[in-house]
Amino acid sequence: MRVLVTGATGRLGRVAVPRLRDEGFTVRAVSRRPGAGDGVEWLAVDLATAAGLADAVAGVDAVLHLASSPNRRTHEIDVLGTRRLVVAAGHAGVRHLVYVSIVGVDRVPLAYYRHKLAAEQVVAAGAVPWSVLRATQFPGFLAELLAGASRLGPVLGDPAVLAQPVDPGEVADRLAALLRAGPSHRVEDFGGPEVLRFDEAARAWLAARRSRRPLLPVRIPGRLGRELRAGALTTAATPTGARTWADHLADTYGGTGRR
Ligand SMILES: NC(=O)c1ccc[n+]([C@@H]2O[C@H](COP(=O)([O-])OP(=O)(O)OC[C@H]3O[C@@H](n4cnc5c(N)ncnc54)[C@H](OP(=O)(O)O)[C@@H]3O)[C@@H](O)[C@H]2O)c1
Repeated sequence: MRVLVTGATGRLGRVAVPRLRDEGFTVRAVSRRPGAGDGVEWLAVDLATAAGLADAVAGVDAVLHLASSPNRRTHEIDVLGTRRLVVAAGHAGVRHLVYVSIVGVDRVPLAYYRHKLAAEQVVAAGAVPWSVLRATQFPGFLAELLAGASRLGPVLGDPAVLAQPVDPGEVADRLAALLRAGPSHRVEDFGGPEVLRFDEAARAWLAARRSRRPLLPVRIPGRLGRELRAGALTTAATPTGARTWADHLADTYGGTGRR
């Protein structure tokens, strides 16, 4: 099967591309600043302008759409860019488009999540048969959040927010299975093996880094805080991934750690 992967240089794309290739998919990988090598074809595509898009969708059987821009021009890239991709894929006769979304996009009042929900709707309304998988947070993303939250010294955060980190490699395996299964519409959400409170996750992260920084509790106000504490980012769906937050920390920091 020939598969176009958008967002191929991102956290998930970097893991998904070699896995798909190793499983026998013929992969065309795209982003604005494409990589090279890896035994796949790399092309430059900008979803904000559609530059490169017609060539990218030509001759592929399926599209795995991972590209996203959480921090800037999100409506342009995630919503309108997804529409550009769906339209181009339709014209090219693509038979399946798989979109990756996030558990909680329909509950958590964040602008990014609203855009992701809108992009899901663009996919579902498009002419290309589709599947949507919502996943929980990747551990690498959680670690970036923790690094950002501790920029001033202590780790700032709402201790009771619940997260369920899931290994991107295991998400990639689900996506490969979905590509093989064919258009399935919205499938079971996919989360990691354990639900953690923010303070538990932060303490484990600090310990792995041999850091003595304190946690400074900051309660997130309003509906956002209520949803995050009530588990809007988590799912009871099974099966879950197997790799834990502790596994990620061991892989990343091993026994050496750093302050
Ligand atoms: N991170 C998480 O914890 C998480 C959890 C669940 C679901 N997801 C979803 O999984 C998907 C992948 O997430 P990720 O964390 O791997 O994302 P990421 O690391 O932020 O990567 C985003 C990718 O999109 C590409 N991109 C950005 N703007 C673009 C544009 N205008 N045109 C074409 N490509 C563009 C980037 O490459 P260039 O900059 O080179 O263009 C990059 O390859 C997203 O849809 C995200 O919502 C993420």
